[in-house]
Parts: sequence; structure tokens; C-alpha cells
Amino acid sequence: MRDVIVAANWKMHTTPADAGDLATTIAARTRVPGVTRVICPPFVCLAAVRDALAEHDPSVAVGAQTVHHELAGAYTGETAAPMLVGLATWAILGHSERRRDAGETDDLIGRKLSRAVDAGLRPILCVGELLEEREAGRATQVVETQLRGALAAADPQALASAGFVIAYEPVWAIGTGRTATASDAAAMADAIRTGLTALGWPDGGEGVPILYGGSVTSVNIGEFMAEPAIDGALVGGASLKPDEMAGIVARAGITAAARGLAG
Ligand code: 13P
Repeated sequence: MRDVIVAANWKMHTTPADAGDLATTIAARTRVPGVTRVICPPFVCLAAVRDALAEHDPSVAVGAQTVHHELAGAYTGETAAPMLVGLATWAILGHSERRRDAGETDDLIGRKLSRAVDAGLRPILCVGELLEEREAGRATQVVETQLRGALAAADPQALASAGFVIAYEPVWAIGTGRTATASDAAAMADAIRTGLTALGWPDGGEGVPILYGGSVTSVNIGEFMAEPAIDGALVGGASLKPDEMAGIVARAGITAAARGLAG
């Protein structure tokens, strides 16, 4: 049975002075059997969050929000995947904000993916269409292209062993208060698994957890978790609010228990 995962993407929020306390508070409010929890703070807060969670709740994993596609070199301001060893065990890759603001292409994201896996990080690959692409009926095609581009050079076996996760985040749903319908998100998860099958994934991608992201809250999480094709959420704005995270992870826990993951 696939993992049930709630990952917090803190984006460019928190400081080293407050991130540890926030992580500790969220950890304490989300102790739910069977749910894999991940907190992805800004790079400069990784050590504070790692230390706080090591002390209070080591079962919450720490993730980075990106990694560089090279191992080292003259790349001012960047962070290579091997530098994260000891700080993080997960990495978000190809987030739409980085596709938009840092010009990340599918090919580049594919290179980041293999750097992350080589460094022992569990990758969350983000895919998702723009509003105009959905309105033009091209959402599935866009996501399949992103998937094919990022995975072109990937070894499915190595990625599967690394615990590869995909987050479907429609760009128009991020930070807007507007979400995909749960049935559209589930249909996209099915399409993603069909895409993985075409790319040679041995089990047709059945083992790959697919998260929904885009304006997830404690109020709407239930719709998504009720879909068997969806295995959790990648949460932005609401992930900075302990009350919201408590509600989101509690609902994810119901699905985890139904899947027999709660031990
Ligand atoms: P919001 O939950 O703020 O819409 O952000 C979603 C997201 O981008 C998570 O990676």
C-alpha cells in the first residue's frame, strides 16, 4: 500500500530564529499514526528545523525546496544536493514557482532529480498546468510532457528505490484559494500513472505516491483524501499554521488507517 504523506512547503517564510519552534509545534499537533510528515523550510532554516525535530519528534522528516543540478562549482548562491546530507532527507524538485521564477526546464529538473537521488534524498517532483492550459483542454498533455521531460534520463528502478513521489499542483490553484476538484485531481493522478507505465515503470507507477497541492486546507483536504488515487498533500500557505496542519494530518490519518498503515 502506498505511503500517505503530508509535506509542508514553507516557501520563503520563517527565519532560523523561529523555524525550530514552529516545526516543534506542528510536530506535536500532527502525531497521527501512519502519516509520513515532511517539513521543507528555506535552506537557512534547515539546521534549526533539523535540530528541533531531532530533539522533539525525529519521526518528522526535513526536506529542501530545491537542489542544484551540478555537484559543485561556480554557481553563486546555489546549493548542491550533497551539501544537504545531514540537513535534509527529502527534496522538492520542479516546483512551479521555480519553473516560473528560476526558469527551470523539464530537462534541468531531470538533472536535479538524479542529483537528489544520488545524494540519498527522497524526491518530490512537482508537475501541473497553467490555467490557460487547463481551459484549452491541454492539462493532461502538459503534465505528461513535464513528466516525460523530467524522467527522460531517469532509471525507474533507482527512482522507485529512492521513494519517488509526485506532487500534482495545478499552477492556478497555488496560493489562490481555488482548488482543482478532487475528481479532476484523481483523474490527473491516473494519467500520471499511465504516463509512468509508458515510461517503463515496472508496476505501472502503482507504487508511486501522488500528492495533490494547491490551496489545501483542513476544510478541503477530505475531498482529496477520499480519492484512492491520491496519497496526500503538498501544502503551502496552510503549512505555516499549526491548527491547519493538525486538521490536514488528522484527515490524512483516516486514509492511512483505512489503508492499514496506522500499525
Ligand atoms: P498553497 O497551499 O499556498 O496554495 O501552495 C501550494 C504549493 O505550492 C505547495 O508546494
